[in-house]
Amino acid sequence: MSGGPRTAIIGGSGFQRLPGFEAWRRENKATPFGEVSDAPAFGRLAGRDWVFLRRHGAEHRIPPHRINYRANIWALKDAGVERIIAFAAVGAIDAGLAVSRIVIPNQIIDYTWGRAHTFFDGQPGEPGGLKHIDFSRPYSEALRGQIMAAANQAGVHAAPAAVYAVTQGPRLESAAEIDRLERAGADIVGMTGMPEAALARELDIEYATIAIVVNPAAGRGRGTIDMGEIAGHLEAGAGKALAIIANL
Ligand code: HPA
Repeated sequence: MSGGPRTAIIGGSGFQRLPGFEAWRRENKATPFGEVSDAPAFGRLAGRDWVFLRRHGAEHRIPPHRINYRANIWALKDAGVERIIAFAAVGAIDAGLAVSRIVIPNQIIDYTWGRAHTFFDGQPGEPGGLKHIDFSRPYSEALRGQIMAAANQAGVHAAPAAVYAVTQGPRLESAAEIDRLERAGADIVGMTGMPEAALARELDIEYATIAIVVNPAAGRGRGTIDMGEIAGHLEAGAGKALAIIANL
């Protein structure tokens, strides 16, 4: 294990670069699970050391269902990371969550399929054996608490809990699918929360998500979902997410 930073940020859509982040080193190491989305960058932001990984790759080309989540999480563990703060752009199902709002989810419903979703798959090179992780509380409550405290300090009005429905993508949902997710208890919807959170738990890495609402979910806004509008809300939300990181 290296003596490097112990906390990683996984940047999603809108975080191809972290403003203010100065990388001193990038490390592209092979993993037993194939290629990482991008070489993890080791550097400094707001007076602290971090590892930064771009979930969708350097040029934002890898769609949610093709991300090698196992390689990404493995590479961070291998770099000595003990906790991960994952950024995520999401749609709002709960009408109380406006665009550019920050949400710290506390629960997950996984609707993804066909993604390599476990390190305990009975294959050579894996950490070994059969393991059923506890996932009752899918996020680290300690890390969620620290993020909420930092949000308060930064004056960012973050929603302290939400159920995150993770869909397969890359298409957005139908209005009826969103109604169904709401009946299931979901407040926000995105495409990358799983299997990332479970893989982190499998390797005993503390994991929490800072979600940014970038659109009302399908059927909840006016008309269709506009990618140009999403980009604008993402930028507004990203500023708040970074303010939280600076106060963490
Ligand atoms: N649905 C799924 N994923 C998303 C959305 C959405 O509305 N917005 C951002 N990511």
